[in-house]
Amino acid sequence: MAAGDEKTDITALLYSNRSAAAYALGKYLAAATDASLSISLRPTWAKGHFRRGEALLALGRVREAHAGYRKAAALEPHDIHVRVSCERARILAQNESMGLRVVQMLAGRDFALKPRGLHPIRAGIFRFAQGMQNFIYLIADEESRKCVVVDACWDVDGILAVIEREKLLLAAAAVTHSHFDHTGGMPPPPFASLRIRVSGVAELKRRMPHLPLLVHPLDIPDIIESNPQLQPRHFTPTPNGFSFRLGDRTDLHFMHTPGHTPGSQCVLVNGCRLFSGDTLFPGSCGRVDLKGGSLPDMLESLRTRLCAVPDNTIVYPGHEYGGEWTSIGREKKRGFLRPDAHPGCSRHNSVDVARAANSANATVAV
Ligand SMILES: [Fe+2]
Repeated sequence: MAAGDEKTDITALLYSNRSAAAYALGKYLAAATDASLSISLRPTWAKGHFRRGEALLALGRVREAHAGYRKAAALEPHDIHVRVSCERARILAQNESMGLRVVQMLAGRDFALKPRGLHPIRAGIFRFAQGMQNFIYLIADEESRKCVVVDACWDVDGILAVIEREKLLLAAAAVTHSHFDHTGGMPPPPFASLRIRVSGVAELKRRMPHLPLLVHPLDIPDIIESNPQLQPRHFTPTPNGFSFRLGDRTDLHFMHTPGHTPGSQCVLVNGCRLFSGDTLFPGSCGRVDLKGGSLPDMLESLRTRLCAVPDNTIVYPGHEYGGEWTSIGREKKRGFLRPDAHPGCSRHNSVDVARAANSANATVAV
């Protein structure tokens, strides 16, 4: 290698590393600038394009970020980290072109955090939430700033804080199914005897009495059982095919997908984004052995209803079991939408509650 080339390589590397350091410090504009300088010196290095993509994504410039990731992926097609980042940016860019914003919140990362001085019972509930790995979603229409929260549970204060931070207006609360980790209320045995109540849709309804509570009719009785302060008149029943609009461009279509519970439902947004609750996970599906669960119903929901959704639909699951998202096409190839997949063998049939129970031992102690 000629001395000049070596000097250029070292300078490009220094800019790339300084970009990474700026990114880690939250200085995203500086990170993007340094990444661009690195690219100008060595345009055939994937690293510079990747770092530029990361910085631009953090700045909310998702289309430019996607372009950067695409260049990185073209140069390093076998780098899984680059490919996943590129896919994430592609989804975000598509959402942006629809005027759609999806905020995916994870327990312990975005809500149910641990502020100092938290009441010990509340701290125990938050630990339980982290063990359950619940995702809560905001589905927002960019133009009107209206949003629907999906499965508001565990920490209503924390969820409302995110809505405020994102400058959104809460228009409705949708519930994918009746289980307490998606709705709040009284947890199931053996925790029911502790008289602990998990913050959730009842608390949301108390604070915002006119907020529509979108629940499939078959799951309303179980939610009332664990939230006795709620009555049937507090719910907006969502039979199969029910539609709820946010602004002019965002349509929420409710699909009845029984199996995990009798009234489990998925929410299909604009025909291409599916909020699947505990019906479908990446590489798996929900349990069918709990109260009201049904293997034949789950098979019917997966094979008839969800297999009819377009393959390019992005699926946002109700828990972080196997990833943050998947697609209908991917699940048809490798997951539980395969013709030979059998929900009775779902690897999450017993894992989730056992894991949460372990993390909840402190809750029991208090
Ligand atoms: Fe569930």
